[in-house]
Amino acid sequence: MHNFVFHNPTKILFGRDTIGAIGPETKAWGNKALLVYGRGSVRRNGVFDRVTASLEAAGVEWIEHGGVCSNPLLSHVREGVRLAKANSVEAIVAVGGGSVIDAAKVVAVGAVAEHDVWKFFTGKKGVKATLPVTTVLTLAASGSEMNSGMVLTNEETREKFGFGHRLLFPKVSVLDPETTFTVPPEYTTYGAVDAISHVLEFYLTASDPDSPVQDRLMEGLIENAMAACKRCLTDPCDYNGRANLMWTATLALNGLTAAGLGRVGFPMHLIEHSLSALYNVPHGAGLAVVMLGWLRAHRQSLAERIAGLGRRVFGIAARDAEAAADQTIECLRQWLQSVNAPVSLEQLGVPASDIPAVAANAKGLARVWRLQEYTPERVAAILEFCR
Ligand code: NZQ
Ligand code: ZN
Repeated sequence: MHNFVFHNPTKILFGRDTIGAIGPETKAWGNKALLVYGRGSVRRNGVFDRVTASLEAAGVEWIEHGGVCSNPLLSHVREGVRLAKANSVEAIVAVGGGSVIDAAKVVAVGAVAEHDVWKFFTGKKGVKATLPVTTVLTLAASGSEMNSGMVLTNEETREKFGFGHRLLFPKVSVLDPETTFTVPPEYTTYGAVDAISHVLEFYLTASDPDSPVQDRLMEGLIENAMAACKRCLTDPCDYNGRANLMWTATLALNGLTAAGLGRVGFPMHLIEHSLSALYNVPHGAGLAVVMLGWLRAHRQSLAERIAGLGRRVFGIAARDAEAAADQTIECLRQWLQSVNAPVSLEQLGVPASDIPAVAANAKGLARVWRLQEYTPERVAAILEFCR
């Protein structure tokens, strides 16, 4: 087990009827807030009204900045920064899924910066300060509600980059599973796939072979994501199904799973971000396809690791590691199909002839994320397994 520091400062309020806490919790950080949300789901399901009522009851003045799209855009965030500065807001409240929370985090750091926010994503500028962020999560997927990361698409350069900083953990996140009752089946699936991939990224790239505590934790999260996804697809208003999926997705990327694993990578996300940047595919949909290709590309080099996962999660009995690894990948592919996730570039609507362009697009993020070993040639070879 490698040395590690685990410090996650985000306060989580989890459960039914917790939305009413967002007002007092935000008041503790400021009297005037920018309220960031998406393209209307929170207005339709009533969460927006419950949040604004709570803010007003707590004496928090709010200005809205709606319209965050899935795979949030730099241009829209820049407008949020302008609004935050012009109104001298003291806090940012995010009400939505990962796209909204990520956009809110970037607005929060941009509101106190003298330069364009994209410089944070290219590593040209470091974070010195940020406004406080509070969130009400409405979609179980990204884990942004309890981590310090954010991802943004620069539509001018067609790059989708991510970065993180310890100052960008949300101060408070409200997780009321009932807000996710209205999440459509496809985004229920994409969210579960995102959570599974967050765990797999660390499980399969960890540099410490002897980490049973972390392995059992990660295997359990993968099992829960799969089981809870099925429950929510069967009954969208299954409270405990939604609660399990929500908490699993949060734990999948809040730093806990990587503790003690040493250097870990995020290669599936590296590749998926190029698919989302170029084709605007939903993040979890792209990951379902990339995950299978990446596993196939590493079926020999990681045979034991993949086989170990299969034995624990899918009950694979094969003794030969490569045979067990192949069966594990096939079980995962069948599960993905059973929840209507895409399992090929073709199903994503990405022509195989575009593989070189996708691979070339990933080069920039590979440099920023110090994953230079993922050359365009290596990314193209992995994408060939995703056809
Ligand atoms: O925009 P609205 O109308 O709200 O609709 C959204 C959107 O269309 C809808 N939705 C959200 N909550 C809903 C709902 N529909 C009905 N009922 C609800 N309660 O769902 C759609 C997708 O929302 P989005 O926020 O885009 O999904 P998700 O939470 O998966 O976030 C994806 C973004 O997170 C980033 C991804 O790159 C992507 O941009 N990620 C952030 C990470 C982080 N901060 O650590 C890590 C992740 O790996 C990921 O990269
Ligand atoms: Zn993700």
